[in-house]
Amino acid sequence: MEYLLRFIQTHETFRLPEIQALADLEGIPMEVVSYSLDSPFCTLKLPDDDAARRLLSRSITAKAIYALWGSGANYPALHASVVETSTPWWPQFQGQTFKFTIDSFQGSRTHADICELINSFAYMSFTGPVALKNPDLRFCVLEDWAFDAQAHGSSTPQHLYLGRLVGTSQREIVGKYDLKKRRYISTTSMDAELALITANIALARPGAIFYDPFVGTGSFPVACAHFGALAFGSDIDGRAIRGKGGRNLRANFAQYDLAPGFGDSFVADLTNSPLRPGRYLDGIVCDPPYGVREGLKVLGHREKRVGPVYDGPDAHHLQPGYVPPKRPYSFSAMVGDLLAFAAASLVEDGRLAFWMPTANEEEVRLEVPGHPELELLSV
Ligand SMILES: C[S@@+](CC[C@H](N)C(=O)[O-])C[C@H]1O[C@@H](n2cnc3c(N)ncnc32)[C@H](O)[C@@H]1O
Repeated sequence: MEYLLRFIQTHETFRLPEIQALADLEGIPMEVVSYSLDSPFCTLKLPDDDAARRLLSRSITAKAIYALWGSGANYPALHASVVETSTPWWPQFQGQTFKFTIDSFQGSRTHADICELINSFAYMSFTGPVALKNPDLRFCVLEDWAFDAQAHGSSTPQHLYLGRLVGTSQREIVGKYDLKKRRYISTTSMDAELALITANIALARPGAIFYDPFVGTGSFPVACAHFGALAFGSDIDGRAIRGKGGRNLRANFAQYDLAPGFGDSFVADLTNSPLRPGRYLDGIVCDPPYGVREGLKVLGHREKRVGPVYDGPDAHHLQPGYVPPKRPYSFSAMVGDLLAFAAASLVEDGRLAFWMPTANEEEVRLEVPGHPELELLSV
């Protein structure tokens, strides 16, 4: 059966990877019938309404999903398609309360227009009363207007759909996790919406163990815990984790009542990871340091040294207040280490979802790195 997915028209390149990940997570067979980066409307084949509802239930890049009752390039074509497609379905919905709305993408309608358009579907002759609050059935006429079309005098959208609402997404939580309202953030905290999308793409879910090796203020683990995962994090800089005056990584979990989803945090350098080797991580989500504003550093000496350093009876690293030395490192080496760590510690079908810049400071394009034991799913 065909369904119409109403995406947001932003973060376009993340939309299909997120929906495909959610289909994989729910074990839903899904066929994309039509999709374009320039449009928020996508048609899909799905087994049934229940699958459509489950597919959308935790999406961030989609708003809603509709059973597709018809589509066309103009209103006469839409009505013809509605009659042809949906007539057999009308009897099962007789007697239910219903409501019609209009969703005009890149367009607007006057109140009079809206009433006239809704009335033009009167031939469907539903007998149930109209209910504006909590109706049993919600129909939506979705109009796809070309960019700026109305400003240039056009009075017709470029495509139209009629859908019966089947399910909605979790877009409303984007506001809840907004960084402006978060207890503890820094200049490098990841945007809440993007962290939630990343957690979806990585399949964060109840019973799964997730890890962020560059945790900072914890945007990714918070997003993973929202979707039910047990989330750990580490950072080379303990100050990032500890924060100040009660504003810290742990406080962010507490703010959203996610304390049970906080595994723990520790101070560590990814390139010298203290974690027990083995495959026990279901997902790794992170944004490694890009080394753009501040040079990238990892633990170690500039010159290769063997053994501890002494300037008295005790070795340096055993003295109180010891600060380990750091040496410069390159972004590509860091990403190489991240991929090697992921290949060695993810369970089978576990996912690594990470952010990287598309170009370096000299505007030279950075290639997406690969690893022989990892399959590239999406860029
Ligand atoms: C881009 S920030 C991550 C921000 C984080 N996602 C957040 O939402 O707050 C990168 C983090 O990596 C840490 N870092 C830098 N080098 C590291 C290393 N070698 N191992 C582990 N963490 C490192 C930095 O201290 C910084 O907190």
